[in-house]
Amino acid sequence: MKRFFLFLSCFLISNYIIAQNVQSESAGMTATADPVGKAPEIAIIPEPVSITKNEGYFVLPANVVIQSPAAAELKQVVAFLQERLSVPTGSFISNVNTHTPTANIKLILNDKANHQLGSEGYQLSITPNFITIKANKAAGLFYGAQSLIQLFPKEIESKEASTGTDWKAPCVEVTDYPRVGWRGLMFDVARHFFTKAEVKQYIDAMVRYKYNLLHLHLTDDEGWRIEIKGLPKLTEVGAWNVKKIGEFGNFIPPTADEPRNYGGFYTQEDIKELVQYAKERFVNILPEVDVPGHSLAAIASYPELSCTAGAETYRVRSGERIMDWSRGAPPIALLDNTLCPANEKVYAFLDTVITQIAQLFPFDYIHMGGDEAPINFWEKSDAIKALMQKEGLKNMHQVQGYFEKRVQKIVESKGKKFMGWDEILEGEMSPSAAVMSWRGTKYGIEASKKKHEVVMSPTTYAYLDYMQADAITEPKVYASLRLSKSYEFDPVPVGVDPKYIKGGQANLWTEQVYNIRQAEYMTWPRGMAIAESVWSPAEKKNWNNFFGKAEQHFKRLDIAETKYAPSVYDPIFTVSRSADKQLMIDLSTEVSGLDIYYSFDNSFPDRFYPKYTEPLMAPKDATTLKVITYKGKEAVGRMMSMPVDELSKRAPRR
Ligand code: ACM
Repeated sequence: MKRFFLFLSCFLISNYIIAQNVQSESAGMTATADPVGKAPEIAIIPEPVSITKNEGYFVLPANVVIQSPAAAELKQVVAFLQERLSVPTGSFISNVNTHTPTANIKLILNDKANHQLGSEGYQLSITPNFITIKANKAAGLFYGAQSLIQLFPKEIESKEASTGTDWKAPCVEVTDYPRVGWRGLMFDVARHFFTKAEVKQYIDAMVRYKYNLLHLHLTDDEGWRIEIKGLPKLTEVGAWNVKKIGEFGNFIPPTADEPRNYGGFYTQEDIKELVQYAKERFVNILPEVDVPGHSLAAIASYPELSCTAGAETYRVRSGERIMDWSRGAPPIALLDNTLCPANEKVYAFLDTVITQIAQLFPFDYIHMGGDEAPINFWEKSDAIKALMQKEGLKNMHQVQGYFEKRVQKIVESKGKKFMGWDEILEGEMSPSAAVMSWRGTKYGIEASKKKHEVVMSPTTYAYLDYMQADAITEPKVYASLRLSKSYEFDPVPVGVDPKYIKGGQANLWTEQVYNIRQAEYMTWPRGMAIAESVWSPAEKKNWNNFFGKAEQHFKRLDIAETKYAPSVYDPIFTVSRSADKQLMIDLSTEVSGLDIYYSFDNSFPDRFYPKYTEPLMAPKDATTLKVITYKGKEAVGRMMSMPVDELSKRAPRR
């Protein structure tokens, strides 16, 4: 999500967009959950391919023996089980590498591959006497272990000893494997920097839901986050800006004397540590260097990378306005944040960067961005005009295409595959360029037809920076994406050639995300919905079942101390005008089984207040509608205070 200025200019200046958001929210409300009754005893997310429940339970003994092969890649699988099964329970967990008839938990790598399971599938069997997880590869055992933990009571997630819990798991037989191989989350560590420890925390949360790919957005206008040897200014200058807090995008431009000490970067040793940490948890890290647009941090460090005179005065962005999105994409840049496609120094610079990135990240792909590059400075540049003449380039799409092809060559010369955002398709790239489809799924569909590999990460379902409920409660972003809409994500949509779809991914841009707790809030529970969409068979997906499980996972995340958004419980406001232009306020909920209580008298409603049953008309002098949702006697939604004026603006009198 980078169209932040679109949001700011539209959101703050005009209420029209808010009205649009409200409409698009209601349009997304196709799914409704049944009243949530008794908590499901089995609540595995993502839903397994097949699960059979049998009679009885496995009761965790005080001394547990895990039998596993001695393979190095199983170290973390065993360590994970040891930690989860000992910290909260007080049980003593030992590990043996030889066949032990008395073992309580057996991790078995199949001698003869079970083709159905592939490289990430597993079979989990829980009987009253012992637990067996079988897989072809270590990754499958890890996912089996994740499912196993989800079958124990929620207190298993505790970081400290928990007393009074019956440590038992129901007897089941599970066969499970993923729908697609690329199950990604993108974490933007450029807009706001997140420490190595925070990235590890993010990885720990994502593997719970069987994600296997972390896309790190490492560079942008607001920061360059990776040490590159021989280019020291990238991290001396490019990693730092002025600390600003509030609504990012329209901050007052910093003055020259304000300290540029906000940000940070990963040393190459940090990157190696993160790559290893991820690998032990069966996660690949996809590095992204976003060029030619979004490159202000690089240009502030090395102004000669720009085509534009005066770039020496540029500074790393601190959230001040640098783009005008009022005419749509590409944006009009107020300063030139693009690398110059006509400058040979740019390709030498990228060669140095890509060489080191290729060595640091073992993953096959390097993502080179390519999105939202403004062209208004290129249009004025003599160097670009000369390049166009020399290369026979007819327009700015072709100029960017020339750049992308040269960058692709550099990436491939390092033995890696090139990937970019879907704008790269405009440059008529060869099918060897992989495409990440973000502007909906249509570019991914088009790319698959042209035989490009595709990862689907459409704004429509998978943009985790979007608001999860009404803007009156959520941190403001220009669009909304509710949980139920995320759950509709299909990484292999109709019209696509499935052969070319590598998988799906959700993206967390962090313009408005200032800390790791908020990163978690934005990721969960929508990350659960996307996880089920990329792992579970399409025919196994069921919103009611999913939401019932998600509610159980809210409790687990509480105990695990991972933040999540409760926005799904917040009511939806839909406004209209009666024939005589009276404001009519309709309240609904994303999930059924909830009651809404309200007040117009500025006091805080609870379940002894009027219950919403039909559209409301605000009393003539009322200024605020306060609402809260309950499930039975329990308040589940947040107290929402909605100005009546705001509702009135959303329903123009025409
Ligand atoms: C993007 O959201 N600009 C890829």
